[in-house]
Amino acid sequence: MEWDHLHKDRILILDFGSQYTQLIARRIRESHVYCEIHPCTMDLASVRAFSPKGIVLSGGPSSVHDPDAPLLDKEVLDLGIPVLGICYGMQLMTHLLGGRVEKAEQREYGPALVQVDEPTALFQDIEREDVRVWMSHGDRILGLPPGFRVLARSDNSPVAAMADAGRSLYAVQFHPEVAHTPCGRTLLDNFLFHICGCKPTWTMKSFVESSIEALRDRVGRDRVLCGLSGGVDSSVVAVLLHKAIGDQLQCIFVNNGLLRKGEAETVERVFRDHFEINLVVVDATDQFLGRLQGVTDPEQKRKIIGNLFIEVFEKEAAKLEGTRYLAQGTLYPDVIESVSFKGPSATIKTHHNVGGLPERMKLELIEPLRELFKDEVRMVGRELGLPERIIMRHPFPGPGLAIRIIGEVTPERLRILGEADAIVLEELEAANWYDRVWQAFAVLLPVRSVGVMGDERTYEQVVALRAVESVDAMTADWARMPYQLMGRISNRIINEVAGVNRVVYDISSKPPSTIEWE
Ligand code: XMP
Repeated sequence: MEWDHLHKDRILILDFGSQYTQLIARRIRESHVYCEIHPCTMDLASVRAFSPKGIVLSGGPSSVHDPDAPLLDKEVLDLGIPVLGICYGMQLMTHLLGGRVEKAEQREYGPALVQVDEPTALFQDIEREDVRVWMSHGDRILGLPPGFRVLARSDNSPVAAMADAGRSLYAVQFHPEVAHTPCGRTLLDNFLFHICGCKPTWTMKSFVESSIEALRDRVGRDRVLCGLSGGVDSSVVAVLLHKAIGDQLQCIFVNNGLLRKGEAETVERVFRDHFEINLVVVDATDQFLGRLQGVTDPEQKRKIIGNLFIEVFEKEAAKLEGTRYLAQGTLYPDVIESVSFKGPSATIKTHHNVGGLPERMKLELIEPLRELFKDEVRMVGRELGLPERIIMRHPFPGPGLAIRIIGEVTPERLRILGEADAIVLEELEAANWYDRVWQAFAVLLPVRSVGVMGDERTYEQVVALRAVESVDAMTADWARMPYQLMGRISNRIINEVAGVNRVVYDISSKPPSTIEWE
């Protein structure tokens, strides 16, 4: 999609491999300035063509003295475009411009206090003394490059910040993008608004308006197909496209019989009834359960479900003649992963999309959210009037309840888990805990235990309750939910769900455990 006309004021972030690079981008976007992350190997012509109002050089794990240290075309610093070097970005700037970088014996990691010498430009509206910042670096600057002045110092870093204001080159040794640097937002804003002269025009309202226009341009009179999953990303894609092209959009929702209780009905109600989107619902429950019969291995379950999904989707799509595009909810983190200068990372989650479907069906991909972070997608959803329940929905795995039933998936087990799971969510919402956890769900264990109900001895199944806190699902910790809430959930499941007489709480973190049980 051609975005050139959309975001005139934009910042280019060149990535040197820091774990914080995405945070830099999010902070800048939060200040309503559009930015993109590109690998540090981006060539000069492409930098020029991108036409940024400012350039940020990220941190990175290397030392400029390493033989294979990632470098930068030095001419990027001569374009007359303001540059902010952060950590490794600062050391590289120093190294390239003739200053002296000292190889450190030990990393400086953690909080530090800096003293500001020049409270202008970058440090406008920031205290002068004992400013709290977050350091995470090995090397440090010993000799300034010609033309530079020291802006701030810390005990450990004689040059904690420096600038050559004449050439609009700025650099900081600490990380303004992390929450542990409280003045970081002000500092980045100073760079964006005072030094680069950006205007805060990147809003989700402007995104919606400009993408509607761009989508209309691109699609013309053709038809677009979109697979709805009920999750926030595909929901936002569908509603955005519907706003842009109306009935030229056709959505398909595959009910695989492994969904949460009431899920299929909600999708129909919201998308067909409320938004009046063309929607085909395919009930493929019997097919999925048929193929899952007797299967107990988690990976095999995943494969069967993934392949059958493609089969069902493809068959349904083939009925819709004249379709040229397939819309997908790819987000910016997936895009960055695949262009990272470290090479496409092995962690890309293929289960989020429909695999090789577009090529097989000879459809062109449309990915209207590929520039957005998750929190921006949620804001777009709000802008488009999607219900809060969909916008704030917990992630739900493609293979659904099948990977939360340990062992074979049967209709009876699906009923038990569906009911137990619904109680978990109801109680979390009632206690205002739904939005406080990353994910919460029930797992059905292939274990029977003895209980007593009335005068009867029972021998029934066990449900495990899982609730975790996380920021990105890469790591997670079990949620410290109030005992009362856990007690209510347990009581209700045991009383209301026939077949369960025991509930346990999962208190493992990720790693070494995972969020899902399979
Ligand atoms: P784990 O269990 O690996 O889960 O800690 C991390 C996150 O990914 C979700 N997940 C999946 N999502 N298809 C999906 O679409 C899958 O096969 C799948 N497996 C795990 C999980 O719910 C959690 O949010």
